[in-house]
Amino acid sequence: MSSDKSSFSHLRYLLLFLSFGLNLFFVYVYSYWNQYHKSPPNTVTYPTFRQNTVENSTILLLWFWPFGLQTDSNICSTMFNIDGCFLTGDRELYDQAHGVLINHRDINSDLSNLPTSPRPFFQKWIWMHFESPENTRKINGLDNLFNVTLNYRRDADIVLREQIMLKSEHTEDAIFPQVLDKKDKLVCWIMSNWNERHERAKFYNELKKHIDIYTLGRHFGKEISDVEYKETLTRCKFYLSFENTNIHYDYVTEKMFNPLILGAVPVALGVPRYIYERFVPEDAFIHVSDFPSAQGLAQHLLSLDKNVEEYKKYFEWRKHFEVKLVRYPAEHVCRACEYVRTKKDYQVFNNLNKWYWDPIDQL
Ligand SMILES: *[C@@H]1O[C@H](CO)[C@@H](O)[C@H](O)[C@H]1NC(C)=O
Ligand SMILES: *[C@@H]1O[C@H](CO)[C@@H](O)[C@H](O)[C@H]1NC(C)=O
Repeated sequence: MSSDKSSFSHLRYLLLFLSFGLNLFFVYVYSYWNQYHKSPPNTVTYPTFRQNTVENSTILLLWFWPFGLQTDSNICSTMFNIDGCFLTGDRELYDQAHGVLINHRDINSDLSNLPTSPRPFFQKWIWMHFESPENTRKINGLDNLFNVTLNYRRDADIVLREQIMLKSEHTEDAIFPQVLDKKDKLVCWIMSNWNERHERAKFYNELKKHIDIYTLGRHFGKEISDVEYKETLTRCKFYLSFENTNIHYDYVTEKMFNPLILGAVPVALGVPRYIYERFVPEDAFIHVSDFPSAQGLAQHLLSLDKNVEEYKKYFEWRKHFEVKLVRYPAEHVCRACEYVRTKKDYQVFNNLNKWYWDPIDQL
C-alpha cells in the first residue's frame, strides 16, 4: 500500500518535472524565434550558379541563409561596390565554395548542423557572431574549425561595427542643436531583458534612489515601437546605455550609438572607459565609473540639467564626426565575400572559445 502510494507520488513528480521542462523548452524556442524571426522565413529560392556567366567569381556559401537577406546575388556590387561575388544558400555548391559563412547562433549547439563533407583545400570557413558572449552559449568543438572571424571585435579578421567617421565637409547636422528644444525628460532607460545578476540592474536600482528615471520597455511593462524608441531618445537629455556585460572586449553596441545619433547623451555602463574610447570620442559620453558612486553620477546629471552650456559640450564631437551604421545582414555577407576573394593566405583560427569568451585581461 505505502509503496504504491510512493510510486504514485514519484510519477506525479516526474510528470511535474517533465511538464516544467517542456514549458522551458517552449519558452526558449519562442524567445529564440521572436528574436531572430520577426515573421516566419519564407521559402528561399537561391540564384543558380552558372560557371560560364559568372566566371572568376568568388562563391560564398551561406550555410544558414541570414534572415532578411534578399536573394538578389548582385547586392554586393550594387550596395557596396564589391564585384565578383556569388552568394548562395545552395549546399550543393559546397565543393566549389571559396568561403562558407556560418552564423554561430544557427549552429544551435549541435555540431552536426555544420558541413560534414571533407573541406576543399581552398575553402575558408567564416565564423560570424554579433551577440555578447554573456548571451551566447559556448559550443565545445569549435576550436580548429574556422579560418576567419567576422565580429564586432577590433581584433577579428573582418570587423563590422558602428563607427564614428569624419564628416564630409558640408554635411548639415539635422539633429543638433534643434534637439535641445525637444528635451522634456532628464534620464531615460529602455529595458527588455532584465536580469537581476547583471551589473546594470544593480546600478539602476541604486541610481533611481537619487534621480528620476523615465523607464520603458518590456521589463517595465511598456513595450514600444521603433518610432516611439526614436522619439524617446530625442526627448531625453541622458540615456542609460547599459550593456549586459562589462567583462568582454569591445562590446559597445547600438545602446551607445543610437543615442549618439539621435541626440541624447549616453551614460555608459559596460566595458571600462578606455575600451569605449576606442570607438567613441571621450567627450561624447559619460561613463558610470567617472563617479565614485551612483549618487555622484546623479548629482552630475542634475547639475547638467541646470546648465545648458555645460550640457552642450557633449555634442561638440558632432561638428566633425558622424555615426556610420552597419547594414545587417547584406554588409556582413558582402564583406565576408570580399575578404575571401582578396585574401588568399592560409589561415586557421584555433582558439575561438578562449578568444571570444575569456574576460578582458585588464579591467
Ligand atoms: C577570368 O580570369 C582570366 C584569367 O585571369 C581572364 O583572362 C578572364 O578574362 C576572366 N574572365 C572574366 C569573365 O572576367
Ligand atoms: C582552414 O582551417 C582548417 C581547420 O583549421 C584547415 O584544415 C584548413 O587547411 C584551412 N584552410 C585554409 C584555406 O586556410
